[in-house]
Amino acid sequence: MKIMVRADDGQVASVAARLIAEQVKARPGSVLGLATGRTMERVYAELVAIARAEAIDFSRCRSFNLDEYVGLPAGSVHSYRAYMEAHLFRHIDIRPENTMLPDGMAADLESEAARYDAAIREAGGIDLQLAGIGETGHIGFNEPLSPLASRTRAITLAPGTRRQNAGLFGGDVDAVPRRALTMGVGVILEARQVVLVATGAAKAAILARAVEGPVTSMISASALQFHANCLVIADEPAAAQLQ
Ligand code: F6R
Repeated sequence: MKIMVRADDGQVASVAARLIAEQVKARPGSVLGLATGRTMERVYAELVAIARAEAIDFSRCRSFNLDEYVGLPAGSVHSYRAYMEAHLFRHIDIRPENTMLPDGMAADLESEAARYDAAIREAGGIDLQLAGIGETGHIGFNEPLSPLASRTRAITLAPGTRRQNAGLFGGDVDAVPRRALTMGVGVILEARQVVLVATGAAKAAILARAVEGPVTSMISASALQFHANCLVIADEPAAAQLQ
């Protein structure tokens, strides 16, 4: 695990966006693992700016998002599909059919999860996986006690995660779905490179436990300590409790 600290969230976003852009330039057929959430909004804004300035070609890329809420109707503005369209997909030339998210409306969530893992395998695996960290220590939506070898599956969101994400639902925690489909920790660990982005003081305590504490299924991000090619990019407020 390498740790890079930058002064603020803008600089962190620039570094993360640059890494993705260089990955796609070096390998136009890259398979990208993508994340949502507030941290990524700046990363995608930077990536869109770089893509425009340097005419980066995403037309041969494929993407797999980490997670999607269960039960949000098609077209809901709160879905992660809608988030990705708004912040990234509609601004670059990635083909819609090459953008994958788990289907949170699938009638059979278990089959959908297995299908998603198979699709990642068939694509040749993920070259670069972008991830944020939740205040519960989750990556994807792998809440505490997610097995470190877990595959994609439906999980129940922790109350703290639903509170953390209520801002994107107009502050109404009851509107945040109770379940989600998430790539498992084991699936995330199979990506050839993982870039974990953490910004803001609210992430300081959990980031220190994930990066410097014992590896434990209570903090799924700690599993990244086992990854041979994982870069953590944090701003100074998020890095404040690192040794
Ligand atoms: C989102 C995801 C989550 C978030 C994490 C941080 O696809 O998988 O793990 O990355 O909850 O969210 P923010 O950036 O909103 O603090």
